[in-house]
Formats: sequence, structure tokens, C-alpha cells
Amino acid sequence: MIHIVIPPKIIVVGSLNMDIVVETERTPDMGETILGNKVHFVPGGKGANQAVAAARLGAHTTLIGAVGEDEFGAKLLASLGENQVNIGAVKMVKGVSTGVALIVIANRDNQIIVVPGANLLCLADDLDQHESFIQQADVVLLQLEIPLETVCAAAEIAKRHGKKVILNPAPARELPRDLLKHVDVITPNRSELGLLTGYPIKDNELEKAMQSLLDLGPQTVITTLGSKGAAYLARGGDLQMVPSYKVPVVDSTGAGDAFNAGVAYALSSGMELKDAVLFASKVSALAVTKLGAQAGMPSREEVEAFHGVFAAETDGDAEQ
Ligand code: RIB
Repeated sequence: MIHIVIPPKIIVVGSLNMDIVVETERTPDMGETILGNKVHFVPGGKGANQAVAAARLGAHTTLIGAVGEDEFGAKLLASLGENQVNIGAVKMVKGVSTGVALIVIANRDNQIIVVPGANLLCLADDLDQHESFIQQADVVLLQLEIPLETVCAAAEIAKRHGKKVILNPAPARELPRDLLKHVDVITPNRSELGLLTGYPIKDNELEKAMQSLLDLGPQTVITTLGSKGAAYLARGGDLQMVPSYKVPVVDSTGAGDAFNAGVAYALSSGMELKDAVLFASKVSALAVTKLGAQAGMPSREEVEAFHGVFAAETDGDAEQ
């Protein structure tokens, strides 16, 4: 019997950046100059990373966003196209630079500074002309590297059409109650959860913090905990933990984006929450084995073939 898989439709509203990745032994102190080892120019941006990850998994993926009319913008669009992401809703804006992220990798961890540029011109008004994409979607996937008004508008439109909204609240910032009421699944890491709930998140306060975020509107909170894996809590349920996988980490940039795309893909493919979180952990584990936010994003077949071992809790604690 032929088994036909209908690809889910995922709309990502979010950022596109050119990542300038510097590999170095250590990060410089303030006022100090050091010599780095290598520099790479690779496609990034939380929105684009999540879109590429979703498309590689097999989703029909559309990205709504903005780049400048410059060389970086053209390269980012070409790369998205090569990854089968529909770029028909990414606008090119004259007179403004494409977003750039300066990423320093040292000791298998990273520091990132984002200069948003054109991402700030991904406007709520732009969504009107792309409403049909949202109307046809299974899931709308959002992050916080574009104006908050646009994120709020996208969530509101998605809910109006009865769509599932997943919010990856990164980079961390406080959020209006109205937005949280329109979100089905929210995926903070530990520090983002702390900012959103006002709790200093020690392990024994995790459930309380996640419950207080649920009380603000979402149906499900999934918190990524770096090498400790992920925790999830759905309304009326108990806190559940999923361990992370032990893999050779080359670059953890984009691990959270891989995880979010994994959650979006899995839930829109009909998986149960537990299986979706486990699936997303595998996507994220595979993603960090290559340099660059998008290079390691796996296909669904690669995720299904992956049978890694779980990491011990003591192995470092880089947050996804
Ligand atoms: O989540 C990783 C991404 O954050 C990088 O690709 C960088 O562009 C920043 O947006």
C-alpha cells in the first residue's frame, strides 16, 4: 500500500539576517583586540532559520519578512529559494541594510549581536496582503526579531482564521497580554521564561513559572533547558521532561530555531505533544553538528534515522 504524506503548511513571520560568524579561542575583554581564527558569512535570522528547518523537514513553508535591496538581501533570498522556502512574501526595501548578526563562537558556545536593519520594516500593514497565506496555513510560527506590533498582528490574524500559533519568545522581551492570549504554544528557554514570569528559574520553580505563563493565555508551554533537554506543560496536565541528545556540537547557533521548527512540523503533522517535543529535540541535536545556523537543519528522514543517546545532565548548559 502506498503511504501518502500530506505536507503540513507552515507560515513563518520573522527575521532574515546575514550571520557573520567569527571563530576564536576566546572572546576579547572590553577595550581589547585579539586575533580570531576564521570568519564565515552564512544565512541566518530566527525567522529564516525556522523557515529553512521546516522546509527541510518537508513542510510547505512560506516566510513573511523583509531584507534590504543589497548583496546580503539577494544572497539570503537565493539561499531560501534553494531550500524550497516560498519567498513571495519577503519584501526588498530600498535604502536600508539587510539585517546582520555578528556571532562570535568560542569554546563551543556563542555570543550574538543583531543589527535588525530591514527586519524592522516587516510591518503589521504588510500582513494584509499576505492574509491568504495565513488562511491556508496549519501553523503560524513567530519569534521576536521583527517589530512587536507585527508579531501581535500576525497572531491576531492567525487566531481569527482558527490557526495554531507557536511563539518562540526570542530574543527575550516583555510581551503584552493580548499577544499571549492569541498564542497556543510558547517555547521560552529558561532565561526567557524568567523574564516573562518574573521568577528566577531554579529547577524547583520551573513548573510554577511555566504554570504562571499558561495562566496568561497559551495552551502549552515548552521550555528548552540546553543540555538538560526540554520541559513541557499543557493546561490540565503535569510537568513532563524530555532529555537532550548527546551529539558532537560544532555550532549551537540556531539550535532553538531547529527545535521550534521541529515542534511546528510535528504538531502540524498530527503528532502528540510528547512525540512532538522528542522529535524537536532530535531536530535540534542534528542541527548543532554543523557550522552555521542553517547548514545542519535535517530532513525528516534524517530525524527518523537518528537514534542518539541522551546527554548526561552534567554536560554543560548552553541554552537553546
Ligand atoms: O537563533 C539564531 C539566530 O539569531 C542567528 O542566525 C542570528 O541571525 C540571530 O538572529
